[in-house]
Amino acid sequence: MKPQFSEKIIVIDYGGQYNQLVARRVRECGVYCEIESYRTPLDVIRSGKPKGIILTGGPDSVYKEGAAGAPEELFGMGIPVLGLCYGAQLMMHVLGGRVERAPEREYGKTQVVIDMPHSPLYEGLPASMTCWMSHNDYISRPAPGFEITAHTGNCPAASLACVEKKLYAVQYHPEVLHTEYGKEILSNFVYRVCGCSGTWRMDDFAEAQIQSIREKVGNGKVLCALSGGVDSSVAAVLLSKAAGKNLTCVFVDHGLLRKGEGDLVESVFGPEGPYDLNFIRVNAQDRFYIRLAGETDPERKRKIIGEEFIRVFEEVACRIGSVDYLVQGTIYPDVVESGLGGESAVIKSHHNVGGLPEHVNFKEILEPLRDLFKDEVRKVGLHLGIPEELVMRQPFPGPGLGIRIIGDITAQKVKMVQDADAIFREEMKKAGLDRTANQFFAALTNVRSVGVMGDERTYDYAVALRSVDTVDFMTAEVTEIPYTVLKTAMTRIVNEVEHVNRVFYDITSKPPGTIEYE
Ligand code: XMP
Repeated sequence: MKPQFSEKIIVIDYGGQYNQLVARRVRECGVYCEIESYRTPLDVIRSGKPKGIILTGGPDSVYKEGAAGAPEELFGMGIPVLGLCYGAQLMMHVLGGRVERAPEREYGKTQVVIDMPHSPLYEGLPASMTCWMSHNDYISRPAPGFEITAHTGNCPAASLACVEKKLYAVQYHPEVLHTEYGKEILSNFVYRVCGCSGTWRMDDFAEAQIQSIREKVGNGKVLCALSGGVDSSVAAVLLSKAAGKNLTCVFVDHGLLRKGEGDLVESVFGPEGPYDLNFIRVNAQDRFYIRLAGETDPERKRKIIGEEFIRVFEEVACRIGSVDYLVQGTIYPDVVESGLGGESAVIKSHHNVGGLPEHVNFKEILEPLRDLFKDEVRKVGLHLGIPEELVMRQPFPGPGLGIRIIGDITAQKVKMVQDADAIFREEMKKAGLDRTANQFFAALTNVRSVGVMGDERTYDYAVALRSVDTVDFMTAEVTEIPYTVLKTAMTRIVNEVEHVNRVFYDITSKPPGTIEYE
């Protein structure tokens, strides 16, 4: 289900941390970009007719046995290639240069001196700039036909070019914001080297997706898992434009939603709402609580919630009759953190990402937003005419409060976290912070401690408040909430929420923390 555009860049994934960032930066230049694994056959890459190819960084050493490779032909197709970090080393290795262990590892912000300012990649840029480096190996001898275009104190070949063949290699990471002119370097590659015109917009993505889904789905029946969050709402409306009344949206209230959320979702997407959707609400709270009872392991909890979701869908699907496709609002950070984004490590298994159990009777799963970051999904949503207050809502995870209650889940704990969360959100709104903080919520720790309430000793739970500022949800900084706002929230929570006697504010950034707790 790949949308077709007249101009595209293909990013070949070698397992680096920043691979989607590369794709995203190219899209910001107005050129469609998608990622393929380095294992993808060359014919498939070629048949995509890319205007350019970018090889990403990765954890391997090119000279080690079994390292991720590239066929020499990739560099001789007449298609411009830009290698980044590992991709740069690989280009040199394959084309006859030498890569070896660097005498000194380079990590972090590094001053790069440009030796060939007229190299197309550096047009219009200063003679020296700060770049982000992260490498143990280095290019000790350029491949024949390549010239060194920049160096650093420790790295004699920080970038190389064979202008005639349109091959470029850079040791640093232009996709990372710490690289001062990274965006300009990538846009020089995209415009000056690949000759792209940069007319592509996110709106085009939405329209092309609708078109390609329409062709794929035909008259098939489509079932959409609608949670009411940004991602699944955008996916549902996108699908409704492609499949019309063949789409049925199923909203499962798993009892792990924010306070009042089930009714809110129903009011927007249900029969009284603005969309002409087939909408089914399933109140399945009890069966989720029963299955989760006593379970404390975070991954098991996620798995149980995911599996139970699927069971509920199966039942609804049976009632509807035959269902051909299941739609999910999976977005890129979900994919990469499930370890399914190509070559990166598993951090947590995201809810339902990556396919369905074998016995489920759907032909295929559709994930039309799988390659996008959250802010890109929002642009698609606005283009589709979804109201701004819905599209700009903060994300809420599929497993819901299940991953905001540390330890086992009970209906009573759900109520505690719902009430505390509602108070915190109210106070953030009153302070106007809801417009600037990107995600904030209350979670329930499994810490119980002694307190005193009136004249009575208590032995109750501690709530953690969390608020983060982030662009892409892959990294995040804690929001600096004024103390008075925290104090008001604390006072209200301990007074109004039964069995809570302490409130913590979590000041951990991501990394090392994650945004959610489990
Ligand atoms: P973390 O906790 O991984 O969260 O830093 C990053 C972003 O992803 C959301 N999140 C999830 N969303 N299913 C989802 O649909 C999940 O299992 C899940 N886990 C985290 C989280 O709310 C944050 O926006």
